[in-house]
Amino acid sequence: MARRIVIASGKGGVGKTTVCVALGKALAAAGKKVLLLDFDNLRSIDLMLGAAGDVVFDWGDAAKGRCGVADAVLEADGLAFMTCPPDYDVLTNDDVKRLVREVEPGYDFLLFDAPAGIGRGLSLACAAAQKALVVATPDLVCVRAACRAAEQMESLGVRNSRLVINRAVYRDIRRKKLLNIDDVIDETGVQLIAIIPEDKNLRRAGMSGKLFAPRNLSYEPFRRLAKRIQGIQAPLWFV
Ligand SMILES: Nc1ncnc2c1ncn2[C@@H]1O[C@H](COP(=O)(O)OP(=O)(O)OP(=O)(O)O)[C@@H](O)[C@H]1O
Ligand SMILES: [Mg+2]
Repeated sequence: MARRIVIASGKGGVGKTTVCVALGKALAAAGKKVLLLDFDNLRSIDLMLGAAGDVVFDWGDAAKGRCGVADAVLEADGLAFMTCPPDYDVLTNDDVKRLVREVEPGYDFLLFDAPAGIGRGLSLACAAAQKALVVATPDLVCVRAACRAAEQMESLGVRNSRLVINRAVYRDIRRKKLLNIDDVIDETGVQLIAIIPEDKNLRRAGMSGKLFAPRNLSYEPFRRLAKRIQGIQAPLWFV
């Protein structure tokens, strides 16, 4: 059975999709079979993988039988992914569970990219998840949202959350311009699994629709996250 992980944050624009895609690539580079499912109906995984023009069917089409599951799985940049349907209202948590049961035998990891907010999209993204990564940048607004998202996911039955602190700038943390790591952990109440530094390569990748090659140094924090998710020891800090 695949390990099924939802990536959420509450607040928008903090790096959920970046973490989802880069973690997926790090796991794939370690020989794992990975499928990304986009649960954001504004859709961004296809854009981040530079494959927006290839999309014909989304996972909603597969869930509702308008196409086969394989028809809605796309491959780009070494990763398999399914895009989000434009309208959540016609889909149920049972649709997601059925779809995931059908698709998971071919994969080691399924990563579910949740939308911003703690509403219907998050509920669908959690429907078949076993574990969550809660992404937060080290600032008060984001930390409060991450805390709410973790609580909401717990109430949806996803109790196994781990915190990913994204866009950490060590100098600013030292100078108290950003919250320090201990404060973020305390305020969210979620156990830390990764710290991702602010990285201009990631910012450029977000703008260009192409992530860098897996050998790039910018992957190191995601390689470590990939290891820690698998229970392999890897240091947290990467400067
Ligand atoms: N560690 C980082 N360093 C620099 N830029 C980053 C980092 N992480 C994410 N970004 C940039 O931040 C922006 C938002 O990232 P992303 O789209 O992954 O956020 P999101 O949480 O998925 O947003 P949404 O809530 O809209 O789905 C992108 O331009 C991305 O390239
Ligand atoms: Mg996103």
